[in-house]
Parts: sequence; structure tokens; C-alpha cells
Amino acid sequence: MKSFQTIGKSLQRKEGRSKITGQAAYADDLRFENCLYGKTIRSTVPHGTIKAIRFKEGIPWNEFTVVLPRDIPGLNGVTLIDASQPFLAEQEIQHVAEPIALIAHPDKRLVEDAVRYVEVDVEELPAVFTMEEALQGGYPIFKSYSVENGDPSEKFPEAAVIVEETWRTGAQEHVYIEPQAIIATSVPGEDVTVMGSMQCPYYVQKALAPLFGLPNAKIRVVQTETGGGFGGKEEYPNIIGGHAALLSWKSGGKPVKMIYSRHEDMWATTKRHPSKIHIKAGFKRDGTLVALDIDITLDGGAYATLSAVVLSRATLHSWGPYKCDFTRVRSRVVKTNSVPYGAFRGFGAPQAIYAIEMHMNRAAHELGIDPAEIRRRNVLRKGDRMPTGQVIHEDIDLEMLMDRAIELSDYRRKRAEFDEFNKTSTPTRKGLGISVFFHGSGFTGSGEVRLASELSMAVTKQGGVEVFTANVEYGQGTNTILSQIAAETCRIPADLVEIHQPDTAMVPNSGPTVASRTTLVVGKLVEQASLELRKRLNDPEDFVAAARECVAREGELKVNVQYEPPREIRWDDENYRGEAYGAYAWSCDVAEVEVDLLEYMARAKTVVSVVECGRVINPLLAAGQIEGGIAQGVGFALYENVILEQGAMKNTQLANYIIPTSADTPDIAVEFVQFPLSNPGPYQAKGIGEMPIDGPAPAIGSAVAHALGGKFINELPLIPERIMREVAE
Ligand code: MOS
Repeated sequence: MKSFQTIGKSLQRKEGRSKITGQAAYADDLRFENCLYGKTIRSTVPHGTIKAIRFKEGIPWNEFTVVLPRDIPGLNGVTLIDASQPFLAEQEIQHVAEPIALIAHPDKRLVEDAVRYVEVDVEELPAVFTMEEALQGGYPIFKSYSVENGDPSEKFPEAAVIVEETWRTGAQEHVYIEPQAIIATSVPGEDVTVMGSMQCPYYVQKALAPLFGLPNAKIRVVQTETGGGFGGKEEYPNIIGGHAALLSWKSGGKPVKMIYSRHEDMWATTKRHPSKIHIKAGFKRDGTLVALDIDITLDGGAYATLSAVVLSRATLHSWGPYKCDFTRVRSRVVKTNSVPYGAFRGFGAPQAIYAIEMHMNRAAHELGIDPAEIRRRNVLRKGDRMPTGQVIHEDIDLEMLMDRAIELSDYRRKRAEFDEFNKTSTPTRKGLGISVFFHGSGFTGSGEVRLASELSMAVTKQGGVEVFTANVEYGQGTNTILSQIAAETCRIPADLVEIHQPDTAMVPNSGPTVASRTTLVVGKLVEQASLELRKRLNDPEDFVAAARECVAREGELKVNVQYEPPREIRWDDENYRGEAYGAYAWSCDVAEVEVDLLEYMARAKTVVSVVECGRVINPLLAAGQIEGGIAQGVGFALYENVILEQGAMKNTQLANYIIPTSADTPDIAVEFVQFPLSNPGPYQAKGIGEMPIDGPAPAIGSAVAHALGGKFINELPLIPERIMREVAE
């Protein structure tokens, strides 16, 4: 096998030193002369009509910059999939915390105080907060899909056992370390510059150009050091970016800083979509799946945001990694008067995988088959067809994946041991649960063709290269991974690779930093650009010398490349058939839990995760992604309980929204395995950002069911109240 210089090595994080030493400048660290602090006046009712806005006495309003809808120079709609969500509500309010007006002042404390002096008169209208009420009440359906591959109802009569259940998951908050943060400057009437914490600079540009009625080139967007995103900085920076820019524009061009507090961030910004997934599955006595009928409903909240795409990914992951020739999926995302839900790591797949994997474990329990065995009978193999008609071309071996996880977790011995233990033990019960799952890398179907991502690369004076990409580092390791791919392909040391700051004035549009696409798609572009540079330098023995010479002679050598999917991906958006994703990563989790029947508390003790993501570019960073995803998955499974009041989060502090601390995080063992390589990624690597949050919840949920002697609780998170209710019954 070919040996590599940097691919497969755990190089240090490129920006690690500057972050650790505190030199990295986040949005709030940036200082500007004459800076104003911006705040948002928000609705306190979920649905209604604005009658009047009053600026009450007690505040020197003449010193303030105030923006109302009538001050918007262009389109009052956040351009994303559609532009239905206003930057500021004009008349009708659709949810609590909806932006109504913007204020700014140089004195930060005064701005904070002033919020209480703005009175909004609203005539309230009836509001709807549950999916059921919304569907019954004829609320709009933002999007629906249907995938049908044979009619399962024909097959149910042949099934020996039919398992039917509804699985529910709650909202989840991203809890990125750095809240939403943007600084905007402008030359009113001319141009706008927005800097800050974000995943997708070109999305912000696309949303702000129509807002100001300016061409794209007049909107400059710069990503600054970003303290996490998890999808939460995929679309929301469009809104806060627009707000800060509107204030700057109205103020005559002063810099305006908007930094949300943790409370405002949790109260007013997007979360993971709550889900309700009904599954009816028919099995033969030996556990073979013969018919599968899945019905998915997501709560979209008050505006469409990215819900259509989230629902798409939920739909396309809903059958799990199983072969079933008679599968039907119906799905929809419905409007409610809750704060709009949006992108969150996994993008609908965690909800769908939770449901199907819980269902498989529940079926195994009812059939009296081991959960690992039922999967062996049904897992996809090379040549199998998914319900969309996509044929698995890759030589996948999910049994091998499971075997490794079973061995590493000592699954067989522990299942038996815990069964014994639970017969006599009080109050502690133990359980072991398994999940097998997959995640499509990159945009769905022909999405990557439509994106047509571009990337540039230039040689540097030092004889290295500089990568110009709109894809951002936000803790996930992008800069290091892309550097490794460039270094390997150019055959130079990785520290000679520079990554240009993502700035729409300087870098081409290589697409959003989302959907587990960066390594697969952008990494491929880096490989392509590196090969192009090598070619232009006549395939030199010594790249560094040739590059230096070239810069000395010509001043510059820069190439631009555009993404072309390596093979034709046929996808029919009308009928939802074809190849949904060009590459899938695969994984198996085994989770061990303890349930305390005095306090009804479940704890995750260990999680073993075996992962197949093609070639691993940087094992340490990849394992970090898996561990982080598992920790977030533990939160999703056990702790993270978004309490809604009138559709908005009520427990908006980390004292009452509980995420796992290091003490609550299980021992995690990660192992990478590799199937024979045949995927389109650079050096045969696949995406890994989202997959690790898909598996822990069903593994933990099934482990809790094992601990409780087969009582499957059908709703996440598994907070003590739910466990108590189940045990008490
Ligand atoms: Mo995302 S949930 O940042 O694809």
C-alpha cells in the first residue's frame, strides 16, 4: 500500500496554539472606534398583530439609532430557501422572541436597559404549539416527502410479528461556547461589511444583498474565529448579520456590535426540530424485516428556515442501514408558533436514526432475538438496494463493524451478566444497548452539482501554498484537514500550507460549512487544486524550490477549480428516487448504562464506537469529532430538556438546561475500521462531522430498556420523570 507523508497522521490543530494562548480574536475581542452596541426588541406573545410601538420616557432616545421595518432599504425577508421570514415583523407576529425593532447606542449598559422602555401593543391571536394541533388545525405544511418502494401493506399479512410504535424526540439547543456574535460596518447607500461568528459567509451575503438592494459584490462577509456552531451558525448569522448591518446603515455607517447573551441565544435562536416518528415494521420469526412503514412529522416552528432540507435528511436516513424491499416513508414538517427550528448537527438524521434503531431493538425484544442478531439478518450489503433505489456499490461489511463493537464492548458477556445482575440488584440496574447507523456525506442528491463549489490555491513566497476557501474552521478541524490534503498532494510540509481567512472579498464560494461535506467535497477541491498547481509547475521533484522560483519569476501563480462529482449521481427530486448521497459513512455504537431506581436517574457509563469513514485523514481530530458527537448524543438522550413556554425556551441558563459535564460523559472508546476503498472523497476520505450524534441516543435508550427488563420508553430525553413514570406503571 502507498505510504503517505501527512495523510493519516495526527498533526496538531493548525489554530490550536492561538486559541490556547488567547491570541485568537473572537468577534467580541475586535475593537472598533465609535462602536455602537445593538439590541433586538422582541415579541413576548406567540401570535398577534402589532398595533403600536412606543418608546417610553426615561431613555435619551435621541441618542439612539432605531431601526423599524420601514427603515429597511430592500427586501424585509431572510433569503434562504425562500424569503418568508422577515428580518423584523411588520404586522403579524408568528412567535415569541420574534424581532420587532432594533436599537443601538455607544453605551452598552444603556442599550440593555432601554429594551424595557420599548412597549409593543399586540392584539393577540390564537397560537398553536404542538404538531398534532397544527396538523388538525390546518396549519401550513412547509414541506412533505414520500418514498415508496413496494407497498408494505401487501406484506404485513405475511409477517409473523408486527411491531408498531411512535417515537418522539424533543428540541435540542446547540450550546456552542461562543454565542451568536456579529459586527457590521457600512457606507450607507454603498456597501456593507459583516464580520463574525458563522459557518457560511456566502449564505450571509446571499441574505443581505436583497435586504439592502445591493449586488452581492457590495456585501462583504468575513468569518472571524468561531467558537463552535453545530449547525446553529448555519442560518442564524443571516438574521443577526442583517440586524447589525441595518443598525450600522441607519447610524450613518458606524460599526455596530451585536453579541447575544446566553439567555438571548437560547431563547431566540434555532434548535433541533422536535420529532414524532411512527413506525410499523413486520418481521419473520427469525427477525427478517419484510415490511416497513414510516411516518415522520417534524415541528418546524414559525418559519420555514432550513426545515425542508432537515426533513429530507430525516426521510433519507429513516430506514436505517437495513434492506427491506417493501418500505414506505411519508414525512412532513409543519408550522407552529414556536421559535423557528433550524439546522443542528445531523440535520434530521439523529431523530430518524433514533426511531428506527429503537424500533429494531424493541422488535428484537419482542421476537426474543438478540439485538445484534436481528441486525445481522437485515443489514445492507454490497449490491443491496435502498428504498430510493440507490444500490450500494461500496464493499461494505456492517457485520464486521458490529463484530468489532461487540468485541470491544464485551457485549455478549455483559448482556448475560447484566441480566443476572438485574434479577437481584436494588436499586441499581444495568443495561447494554446497540445501534448501527449511517450518514450521507455532502448535500443530498444533485445538491453538490447545483452548488458548483469553487476553490482557489496559490503558491507562496516560502514555496508553500495558500488555500482560498469559504469553508470555515469552527472547532471541527477543517484547517488542519485541508492543510494535510494540500501538503500530501503538493508533497510539501503541512506547515507550508496557509489557509486564507474566509472573506467573500478574497475567497471563492466553496459552499457552506455544513452537511459533513467539508472533507469530502472541499477536501477534494484542495486535492484537485494541488494537482493543478503541480502540473503548472511541471510536476517538480522539489515543489518548494519550484514554487519559490515561480513566485520570484512570475510574481504569482494561482489556480481556481470547480467541484465535479466524480461519478454521475442520478437523483430525481420529484419522486425522491436515485442516489441520495455520493458517499455514506457507517458506524456501530454500544452503550452501557446504569439506572438508579431510587432517583430514577440513568447514566451512560461507557460508549464504544466503531466507525467507518473511509481513510482517516487525522486520527486524533477524527476521534475528537466522534467523542464530541457522543457527548452531545448523551445530552440528547439523557439530559437536554428544552422546556417550552408559549413555544419559546424557558430554561435558558446552563444551570437549568443540563448538558453533560465531564463527570457525566461516559468513557468513550473509538475505533476506526476501513472498508475496501471505493468512495469519491480525497484520499478516499468521507465526512464525519454529523454521524457521531446519530447513534448514541438509540444505543443508550435501548440500554435503559435492557436495564428496565424490556420497558422501552418512547420519548427523549430520558429524564428521571419519564423513567419513574415507566417504572411505576
Ligand atoms: Mo449543518 S446541521 O451545520 O449541516
